[in-house]
Amino acid sequence: MTDLSHIDAVMERSPIIPVIVIHDVSQARSVAEALVGGGLSTLEVTLRTPCALEAISEMRKVEGALVGAGTVLNPRQMQEAIKAGSQFIVSPGLTMPLAEAARNHNIPFLPGIANASDIMRGLDMGLRRFKFFPAVTNGGIPALKGLESVFGSEGVRFCPTGGITEQNYRDWLALESVACVGGSWLTGGDATAEIVAGRAAALNLRK
Ligand code: 3PG
Repeated sequence: MTDLSHIDAVMERSPIIPVIVIHDVSQARSVAEALVGGGLSTLEVTLRTPCALEAISEMRKVEGALVGAGTVLNPRQMQEAIKAGSQFIVSPGLTMPLAEAARNHNIPFLPGIANASDIMRGLDMGLRRFKFFPAVTNGGIPALKGLESVFGSEGVRFCPTGGITEQNYRDWLALESVACVGGSWLTGGDATAEIVAGRAAALNLRK
């Protein structure tokens, strides 16, 4: 059985996990500071750009930031992400090699699922926390409610990601099985740190 407590600590830290694509590493630190300053201190940096690993290392320097790697597709990428300083790992899907690598590294792991069969494979691997991805195109809230009614008794909890926006994130958070949501809208569109700070402040998470 996998220890759930450490992935819960990641998911419960903040209701929104910004999904960040960094193209210019010189922006990494200021974007992270803007997010942390706005109360968004759990940061997922996607491994989709050449500078992603360097961006993770830069963001780790920001006080109060918990920095993880997203779009982790295989154990090699997981190892590289951990070496760069990642404190948790997010994947769009779930494979046995990834689950085993996460267990061996003892790192909080949030794998993606899209349907009941994916969740059942996860349960077989001792996993109970999943990224529902891509959340909106996979049926949105009605689909997750259906999965919740089947797997709620197993103690399964989700981080829906993919199509989550400033307009709909509260509806997702209202679901009992949703611990947090992920989304790129806060940093999307090549937003500068100043724009990111404005978007983060508009959420009013700092009370
Ligand atoms: C991810 O990697 O989690 C998604 O690309 C984020 O989806 P979004 O861009 O729709 O928020």
